Amino acid sequence: MVKGKVEQILITKDEIATRVAELGRKITEDYRGRDLLIVGILKGAIVFYSDLCRSIDLPVKMDFMSVSSYGAGTVSSGIVKINKDLDHSCEGVDVLIVEDIIDSGLTLQYLKEYLISRQVRSLKVCCLLDKPERRKCDLVPDYCGFQIPDAFVVGYGLDYAEYFRNLPDIGILNPDA
Ligand code: XMP
Ligand code: MG
Repeated sequence: MVKGKVEQILITKDEIATRVAELGRKITEDYRGRDLLIVGILKGAIVFYSDLCRSIDLPVKMDFMSVSSYGAGTVSSGIVKINKDLDHSCEGVDVLIVEDIIDSGLTLQYLKEYLISRQVRSLKVCCLLDKPERRKCDLVPDYCGFQIPDAFVVGYGLDYAEYFRNLPDIGILNPDA
């Protein structure tokens, strides 16, 4: 089913595993002595989230948000609807948002403003992938797995029409498939 639909493997599962372990070590050092609320953005971040959390050696609470961006096509409008909010209070808490990919940056910019308005103690962003060419605001992730060119990618949590999230590697979709 999958062979032929993914045109090119961009990042292999081994490269992902190495980078996720590095990010986990860095986050562990940076937050040493503190607790952390790690907020995963559903659904694209789930695979990255579960690997990253297990590479962080800190007292961690887990929570999730689900958001959708209004607007036509594949371009984010920046107007974000929160479909699922946090279960935990985040007031006075060190929060790390874990996102699959940053494109325009508008979704995360909105989410950051929203969580800051809920008086978090600190807020940082960790993304697996970043397409800096596509940015429409000045959002810069605090932690980033890989910068990638402007192509539509799937796998390791990222989907096309909800498929391909379970691919262990990250690949570029074949536009003819
Ligand atoms: P913005 O533009 O707000 O949007 O930064 C980020 C969201 O857009 C989706 N997105 C992708 N999803 N492959 C995907 O599966 C991609 O190449 C891609 N580029 C953007 C994704 O939901 C992300 O959270
Ligand atoms: Mg997403």
